[in-house]
Amino acid sequence: MSTQLALSFYEPQVKTIEKKGQSEWGTFKDSLRAPVHRWFTYPAGFSYKAVEHSIERFDIKRGNTIYDPFMGSGTTNLTAKTLGINSIGTEAHPFVYRIARAKLNWDIDEKIVREFSKIVDSQLAKKSKSLQKKKLISEFPELILKCYEESTIYDLWALRDLANENLGNNGSKEFFFVVITAMLRSVSVAATGWPYIAPNKKKVTSIDKDVLTEFLRLTNQMFSDIQAIKVWAHGKNQDSTHLLVNGDSRNTKEFIKNQSVDHVFTSPPYLNNFDYADRTRLELYFWGEAKSWGEISEKIRTQLMTSATTQINRSDLRYEILDEFKKDCPAVTSFIEDSVNKLMTIRKTKGGKKSYDLMVAGYFNDMYQIVRDVSRVLRPFSKALFVLGDSAPYGVHIPTDKLIGDIGISLGFDSCEIEILRTRGDKWKANPQRHTVPLRESIVILSK
Ligand SMILES: C[S@@+](CC[C@H](N)C(=O)[O-])C[C@H]1O[C@@H](n2cnc3c(N)ncnc32)[C@H](O)[C@@H]1O
Repeated sequence: MSTQLALSFYEPQVKTIEKKGQSEWGTFKDSLRAPVHRWFTYPAGFSYKAVEHSIERFDIKRGNTIYDPFMGSGTTNLTAKTLGINSIGTEAHPFVYRIARAKLNWDIDEKIVREFSKIVDSQLAKKSKSLQKKKLISEFPELILKCYEESTIYDLWALRDLANENLGNNGSKEFFFVVITAMLRSVSVAATGWPYIAPNKKKVTSIDKDVLTEFLRLTNQMFSDIQAIKVWAHGKNQDSTHLLVNGDSRNTKEFIKNQSVDHVFTSPPYLNNFDYADRTRLELYFWGEAKSWGEISEKIRTQLMTSATTQINRSDLRYEILDEFKKDCPAVTSFIEDSVNKLMTIRKTKGGKKSYDLMVAGYFNDMYQIVRDVSRVLRPFSKALFVLGDSAPYGVHIPTDKLIGDIGISLGFDSCEIEILRTRGDKWKANPQRHTVPLRESIVILSK
């Protein structure tokens, strides 16, 4: 492998179009204002308006099926449901999958919601008091202890126990799973902004929110959201079907048939952006899904495609560029190999020794398999849209959109266009430690 960066000879085959006016589509801002979409603040999510626009633009109708291989909190599927269109979603993170599934279930029994609210109202204080005999440290990892006042943790613990004891295994349990999850950040005294929690920093505007009041407020708001979204859907959701899978979108043969999908709208993890396992740490610890960083790695980080250096184990062989990838996409893989070599060289000169080299190799190995699977499930004459961002680890620019577009062309898509949504990374301009490569967020449109 050469150690020179291949930028000079990499000629992308794809056409790039500058588009203005949709700069918010890659962000979760619109979705935070929309009923049900707003139940879980997942800024890795995109705007539901981008999905609506794509459905209209490419004439996707009722009876058609739209697929999101990186379902996340379910924006694509929820939008499809409000329009009466069938959907499929694959999400590898079990907790995020559970959130999406709850958001797609609008058959919540009002009687159970009222009854459970009454139980919480009348029993929370007593339950919390009885739990105070136990030590918090025996139940929760330290992160939880740092994020709340002691009395708040006992109240949250009591709420969790009341939910487990009183709700059967049905939609209402999942509804309250999201209600309680949604409160975890609002009742915390720590600055729990995304993506990561800073337990040592206190909230600037620390208005004390007590657990019971916040629980009752969110229960009402979220139950009203279900009524609102049903009105929004005008009954269109009645006969649409939604297959949500907690699985790996690199290979979906077991649950998605060849050429059974009419449209794909998705957003893969951006290269070197978030560690999705880490950003749900507070929630996983609270629900007892994991007790340590190691357990989160084992249960979640290993299930997700490579996109962050925290996922890298340098002795793992999966970061060798796959032979089939090299055979199918020689120009792309030679660019990637050169970039990996360059990053490997720079890494040795840096104190932090970040594994950007293996991250880039792993990212494209995974994206290759996902684009290939998307091509398999899509019907002819249809489109796959990927909302994504590029990256420049150690200043080495990796034009993710062009590379993924070219992977698509090499795998048999007819054509590809890239629409630029916005430029990114401006916040780093003032920081001399960071690179100065202009970054962007774009939509890659592959046509079959
Ligand atoms: C950018 S987010 C998608 C957010 C989504 N559009 C929404 O509105 O919530 C990417 C998602 O891909 C998931 N993911 C990562 N690797 C995956 C894989 N191999 N298969 C399926 N999902 C995966 C991550 O857990 C994350 O939720």
